[in-house]
Amino acid sequence: MTPEESSAKARAFARKAADTHESNPPAAKMLYLKAAESYNEAAGLTSNLKERDELMEWSEHFFNLSKTCVPHAAPEGMCGAEAEEEELVLTEIPNISFDDIGGLEEVKEQIRKSIIYPFEHPDIYKHYGVSAGGGVLLYGPPGTGKTLLAKATAKECGAAFISVKTSGIMSKFVGESEQHIKRVFEEARKHPRSIIFFDEIDSIAGRRADAEGFAKRIVNELLAQMDGVDTGEDRYLVMGATNEPWEIDPALRRPGRFGTMVHVKEPDGTARESIFGIHLKHRPCKKIDYQTLSALTEGYSGADISAICEEAALVPLGEALTCSVRRDIDMSDLLHATNHRSSSVDAWYSDAERMIKKYGDSIVI
Ligand SMILES: Nc1ncnc2c1ncn2[C@@H]1O[C@H](COP(=O)(O)OP(=O)(O)O)[C@@H](O)[C@H]1O
Ligand SMILES: [Mg+2]
Repeated sequence: MTPEESSAKARAFARKAADTHESNPPAAKMLYLKAAESYNEAAGLTSNLKERDELMEWSEHFFNLSKTCVPHAAPEGMCGAEAEEEELVLTEIPNISFDDIGGLEEVKEQIRKSIIYPFEHPDIYKHYGVSAGGGVLLYGPPGTGKTLLAKATAKECGAAFISVKTSGIMSKFVGESEQHIKRVFEEARKHPRSIIFFDEIDSIAGRRADAEGFAKRIVNELLAQMDGVDTGEDRYLVMGATNEPWEIDPALRRPGRFGTMVHVKEPDGTARESIFGIHLKHRPCKKIDYQTLSALTEGYSGADISAICEEAALVPLGEALTCSVRRDIDMSDLLHATNHRSSSVDAWYSDAERMIKKYGDSIVI
């Protein structure tokens, strides 16, 4: 088979996958994987290095897409509880480091001090009687890299990353949610080092005053498990992320619990340039003016910038699929995508101000 034939096969799989993505995610997943495999095969067949890189990127792209195909229901042969367990707690060693996150230098430094150094030098902390226990709560507008930061923290200190889908706990574990929280901490204790991450923690740790009975029990269980977490003894730490910090039960925001609150803000000019760089690095581009892109995206989040890069790539991609000419992504594609997207951060600040006033909270935004 020639590289062209393999690529053609890959494109056919990719088209079919896109057609079934909505209606039949498991089938789409298989098709995306076949597309990735065929691109990989084509890459192995070509002797042109540039083309090989491009084909490998396509392969990776479709492999990543295959991971986005989430089944509507539990797959056959897997009982409901097993499927839920699998979805709700995910243990992994993440593959993303601080270098993959643009800007946020102060936040990274704060995380180094409160998590990474205590993990790396427990003896020194013990020697000086400094306890480094307690959790870190990342808060700020959506899409600013909170989830990325949590993953990268685990990677930076070589810890297992135990990520808990909090919305899942609420909807699926009514009645046994506390046991579920217990199981999460048990899982953490199995590893030499781990970081337990509660993403969108507002959905389980809301103000107890407002909470329904079972939600109160979850908060109480979290409090019980978090009290006495100490890196000197227990080799795990807890991180949480939320777009709505004012909703988090104030009892959880005390020293020893989520004692360290870290505001993850939208990126500044230099950070926006590096975020564009990160998201264009693996794509074929020509003559990119990063300063202009950064100037045009003041107030945009990292997620907005990532979406702009993806949208810009779709233009030459569409052309390549229809006319089989492969041109690089250029400034006109990026400017076009930028014009079509506005900042998703502004609305957050007005909501945040209103809510903080309403609760008389002291959170700094
Ligand atoms: N600082 C950043 N550097 C690089 N990419 C970013 C950054 N912030 C956000 N992104 C992009 O936006 C996506 C969403 O980020 P995420 O961490 O999930 O945001 P949050 O958890 O704050 O809502 C990421 O997958 C990444 O592609
Ligand atoms: Mg997130």
